[in-house]
Amino acid sequence: MKIRKAVFPVAGLGTRVLPATKAMPKEMLTIVDKPLIQYVYDEAREAGIEHFIFVTGRNKGVIEDHFDKMFELDTTLAARGNKKAEQEILARNQPEAGATSFTRQQAPLGLGHAVWCARDIVGDEPFAVVLPDELVLNDPGCLKQMIQAAEKLGGKSNLLAVEPVPDELTHQYGICGVGKRLASNMFEVDGMIEKPAKGTAPSNLSITGRYILQPEIFKILETQERGAGGEIQLTDAMIGLAKSQKFYGVEFEGERHDCGSKPGFLRANIAYGMARDDLREGLRAEMKKYLEK
Ligand code: UTP
Repeated sequence: MKIRKAVFPVAGLGTRVLPATKAMPKEMLTIVDKPLIQYVYDEAREAGIEHFIFVTGRNKGVIEDHFDKMFELDTTLAARGNKKAEQEILARNQPEAGATSFTRQQAPLGLGHAVWCARDIVGDEPFAVVLPDELVLNDPGCLKQMIQAAEKLGGKSNLLAVEPVPDELTHQYGICGVGKRLASNMFEVDGMIEKPAKGTAPSNLSITGRYILQPEIFKILETQERGAGGEIQLTDAMIGLAKSQKFYGVEFEGERHDCGSKPGFLRANIAYGMARDDLREGLRAEMKKYLEK
């Protein structure tokens, strides 16, 4: 099973990080010196993705611009002559011509609806879904780990990246049940539920922002009713698909950061800053000063 396409839903309102997201997309928030969307694009590229599909909405035009070639910047840097490093950074970030598609979700009706908006561009092949506000700090990246697992499994397999959360917080997440273990970090999914009532979760494993799905999910999403929070939930459609296809949970390696929440966003800046050789010492010294205040 070759996964060539990735869908990036970027049409949400980002209310948890207001006012930052009033006029700017959440996916353009920067962690250290890169927008979130660039991190997940790089992760997908590293995983072998060839086509990058963005489901955008109102106020999200800047995401399209971000992946465009910037002639003014390129020519100015070239004219200055001594800015080779910057030029290389820009070139590395740039998708090949024709490797991106942008489609629109006219109203933020939920993640399931956003994924459904990409149906014609994905077509009849398995694909990845990557949520840009969730970053996983690891080498190899989370999506590469998932795609490697998917290629081993083959067939009509669907895969979910899962992570343990504290038992008392399971009601805030999509949770999956654990069936037969295939490896120390992989199992057959035995049931999924979006935001289970307190005390009813089948496990403490939350479904995180990386999925590999078969195209049959689109048929189910087409008629999917609104679920938790009044939104068309991807988890509900996956529950439907699990009646005819297998789902596997992958306990990925790496630290996950929920950058769509204020504490998660701050923590990610510290974690990614500390992972950088050029910034670590300065950041450590600054944090020490604040901790001593
Ligand atoms: P979130 O669940 O974080 O939703 O979406 P949100 O609406 O952006 O944020 P809050 O909860 O109001 O703060 C996860 C990803 O799915 C996209 C978001 O843009 C984000 O990248 N999404 C969500 C859509 O594309 N469409 C939707 O209808 C909902």
